[in-house]
Amino acid sequence: MFTLAHLSDIHLSPMPRARRRELLSKRVIGYVNWHRGRKYVHRREILDLLTRDIVEQKPDHIAVTGDLVNLGLPEEFLRAAEWLHHLGPPSRVTAIPGNHDAYVRLHPEAGTRHWRPYMQANAAGELLFPTPPACFPFVRRFGDVALVALSSAIPTMPFIAAGEIGTAQRQFLATALDRLKQAGLFRVVLIHHPPLRDQAGWHRGLRDAVAFTKILKQHGAELVLHGHNHLQTVHELPTATGPAIVVGVPSASEAVEGHIPAARYNEYSIARDGGGWRLEMVGRSVAAAPEHVWESERRVLRER
Ligand SMILES: [Fe+2]
Repeated sequence: MFTLAHLSDIHLSPMPRARRRELLSKRVIGYVNWHRGRKYVHRREILDLLTRDIVEQKPDHIAVTGDLVNLGLPEEFLRAAEWLHHLGPPSRVTAIPGNHDAYVRLHPEAGTRHWRPYMQANAAGELLFPTPPACFPFVRRFGDVALVALSSAIPTMPFIAAGEIGTAQRQFLATALDRLKQAGLFRVVLIHHPPLRDQAGWHRGLRDAVAFTKILKQHGAELVLHGHNHLQTVHELPTATGPAIVVGVPSASEAVEGHIPAARYNEYSIARDGGGWRLEMVGRSVAAAPEHVWESERRVLRER
């Protein structure tokens, strides 16, 4: 059996002080939004509580599906790298970027480069599917389980939080899914944006959701994990190789009060079951007074 924890939308706080010239961009709107309200929603102590619980549960692997930072300030990327390091070594943690991690167009040296050890294939994955020059998708293999990591993070205009995988990544994804199926593996696709068309409006959704869904339907996947909506959702997508379970998770730093669900992560147990798979999900959420983490859901998502 393999255990995989999934968390997303870290929105790391506190926000570092921004220099004046760093705010001469889309960041100025985000900066005002952060100080007007978002900093009360995404709280560091909530994230630390959840992070501690994940580390204590000792999953075999941890997947982080984007929005580690808020405005894409160079200092935020460094702090997020420290947080990743605290979560676990790159061999135990896989990360992909979200729209906030591509908030403004950055020199690669200043941005997600600091997370590179967490955003690349492992040797077993590279053997099955060599990473393309653009770095995505990359594959990590752990025994019977393969993670296929995509990037839907693109810089956009103010007030737009949309994402796109793009033609090249989609083509590589189709090949990767076929190869991993031939190897008889349980395929987990990681993407920041919700992959199904109706899950987000045009200004914050995945622009190529229809094309992406078509690839999933034709080539198959067993599990698709995403964030972005800050909501717990479960969908089942029929594919040529059986059902693909699509799960979105709330933000990992969301305060308990408020109308959006509190911080949560999900832990999956994946095991071979005869000729098929057994997949169970356990949700662990933050509760108030005193703030603590509890098992909020346990659900078998697939039997055979
Ligand atoms: Fe997002």
